[in-house]
Amino acid sequence: MKFSLNTVLSLFILAPLLHAVTPSVTYENRPLGSIERPLVFRSYLPDPGLDPAVFRQHYLSSKALKYNPGIGQDVAGEIKPLAGIVAGVGVNFGPALSYVFDTTECRLLYVWQGGFVDMTPYWGDQEKGYRLSFDYVPRLVGTLFWKTEGDDPISLAGKSLTALGPREYLGYHLEKGVPIFKYRAGEASFSLAIRPSTTPLACEITLTTSSPGALGWRGTSASATGTLQFKLTGTELGKYQGYIPMAKVTKASADAGAGLFNQYGCAACHSIDGSKSHGPSLGKLADTKIEIEGSAQPIVADHAYLLESIKAPNAKIVKGYPPNYMPPFTLREVEYEALILYIQSLANPE
Ligand code: HEC
Repeated sequence: MKFSLNTVLSLFILAPLLHAVTPSVTYENRPLGSIERPLVFRSYLPDPGLDPAVFRQHYLSSKALKYNPGIGQDVAGEIKPLAGIVAGVGVNFGPALSYVFDTTECRLLYVWQGGFVDMTPYWGDQEKGYRLSFDYVPRLVGTLFWKTEGDDPISLAGKSLTALGPREYLGYHLEKGVPIFKYRAGEASFSLAIRPSTTPLACEITLTTSSPGALGWRGTSASATGTLQFKLTGTELGKYQGYIPMAKVTKASADAGAGLFNQYGCAACHSIDGSKSHGPSLGKLADTKIEIEGSAQPIVADHAYLLESIKAPNAKIVKGYPPNYMPPFTLREVEYEALILYIQSLANPE
């Protein structure tokens, strides 16, 4: 299955409905499974700085042009790929163990303990009921203790699986709730299960194949034909706290405005360096003259204009840009002020 942005978006739209009917795991900002009932979670997953050589089978796109659906044209700038793992499966056994298996590369990517993920950047503030930004990638929670690198650590008859040929993901089934992943590398097929261990910073691996030759795991002495079972131990590679919310703005300042500019996703549509994006650059906007659709006279981007542009973007449309594209933002007064101070500080640096 291809996991597209549309799937993510429709999940987002459906979530509040599901939530109303029955508490749904998809609407937990910090979902957790347990040893008895592991949680299998298919979503964007965070990348804790993996070796790019791991993503051999992924299509790593070159720079893509930005397309503006409102005007039906490419615009200046380029699309930055999301800094996450797109077709991963995250599995969580509560605080005991979490890991990400990648269905494109067909390999275990990384393993951690002490938590799972934090979806706040995506589901947003549950009290307010809307998302915080256009950031789809959840944050890691817990202690990372193993991550893969280079060629596949699994070997068959002394050869890394990477050398056996292209991977094909065949799916997974559950054995007492534990997912067993099946895949092919070249002609050989494998199944892989990862379970919690009683030793800290470790997990239990069960790997099977019907192909001849000994199975091995690089960096360990583990070796067996048919079924290889061993404890994979790691070391602490990093501690992650999940999403750290921005402090509530209580006093308007340009600095607070800069934070809100990112938090509310303004940066997804507006550059500050003069380059055109979905919307005009806000870098040198304050107090300059702006051409407005349907108006003969340019108008000055003063405080009142900036406020109106954020509160009611459709009141005046900047020439060359589509109407109904920027969403109206209903914020607290102090937040409007902070954003305006920030935009003004860009045009008039001290
Ligand atoms: C989905 C894209 C999008 C997002 C998100 C967005 N904007 Fe916009 N914005 C636009 C577009 C397109 C225009 C130009 C059309 C118009 O005037 O409404 C615009 C216009 C503006 C203008 C007037 C610019 C000018 O040159 O006169 C300001 C100021 C502005 N936006 C501020 C913000 C702020 C602050 C945020 C975040 C709170 C934000 N925008 C979020 C798309 C966006």
